[in-house]
Amino acid sequence: MPAFTATAPGKIILFGEHAVVYGRPAIAVPVPAVRARAVISANPLGAPGSVKIDAPDIELTAFLSDLPPTHPLSAAIHGTLHQLGLPRSPACSIKITSTIPVAAGMGSGAAVTAALVRAFSVFLGKSLPDEYVSALTYEVEKIHHGTPSGVDNTVVTYARPVYFQRREPQPPLIEPFTIPLPFELVIADTGIPSSTAVAVGDVRAAWLADPERFNSLFDSVADIVRAARREISAANPQALGPLMDENHRLLQKIGVSSPELDRLVKAACQAGALGAKMVGGGRGGSMIALAPPAASAEIASALEAAGAARTIPTVIA
Ligand code: PMV
Repeated sequence: MPAFTATAPGKIILFGEHAVVYGRPAIAVPVPAVRARAVISANPLGAPGSVKIDAPDIELTAFLSDLPPTHPLSAAIHGTLHQLGLPRSPACSIKITSTIPVAAGMGSGAAVTAALVRAFSVFLGKSLPDEYVSALTYEVEKIHHGTPSGVDNTVVTYARPVYFQRREPQPPLIEPFTIPLPFELVIADTGIPSSTAVAVGDVRAAWLADPERFNSLFDSVADIVRAARREISAANPQALGPLMDENHRLLQKIGVSSPELDRLVKAACQAGALGAKMVGGGRGGSMIALAPPAASAEIASALEAAGAARTIPTVIA
């Protein structure tokens, strides 16, 4: 029996998290060094509709019928069946694994969904186009996040750097772009789980309490995102360092950094990084540091000495 496999990469938001929820642009890139993988195998002896799920990373072994419909894996499977107009799945086993740190601002939930939707749709006989994979992943992200901007599902599905802007009620602006001159980042995980839904909810409450101040912070983030886009296109990635520092200061003002994130940002800069910032929802999760050529290892060691649970040196190309 053939197995049907699909993967999706992790992602980081280079610039623009949180402000992106409020219609400002963001730049996000895939991190192919870490990936989610879904493998589907037919079970010819099983009863139709019997779907066994094994996700060892989250210590889950269950039948689909035992999961509540709001469980993200259940929502992804039912969403795929619905999209293909099928009442139930043939009997099968689904194995989900991932090397993307969980709750670390690296899009692990979105990557699992995108990999699962892709592998499952191929198993069902019809490979869904990227736009459907992304749209289904967005629907499942609503369970994780409440009001996701749509940037995570977009990057993990298309697996390309994107300039993204929400434009409701119109569809978002999604501009995949190439990076003319690659650059090195060190990603460091604080080891403290980050709840994006909580951080996004707190920002919303603060924005409602003082819209003028927060809109102005979001506008400043948008200026940085546009400047970063210009510098990347001009093959001038070292200019991203000061922009990262400035974006981090704005995220501190928005209220989503944490002492641990600030400590890692400072340690990276002291170790020679050209700039650094937290990424994703914040409060915990991960940060990134822009490394000058050949300095990634030294910066990664400094981050580990400053308490990082894990570092991932990566080339953005
Ligand atoms: O924490 P992550 O990787 O899910 O990223 C969240 C990014 C936010 O801008 C805070 C929310 C969003 O939906 O874009």
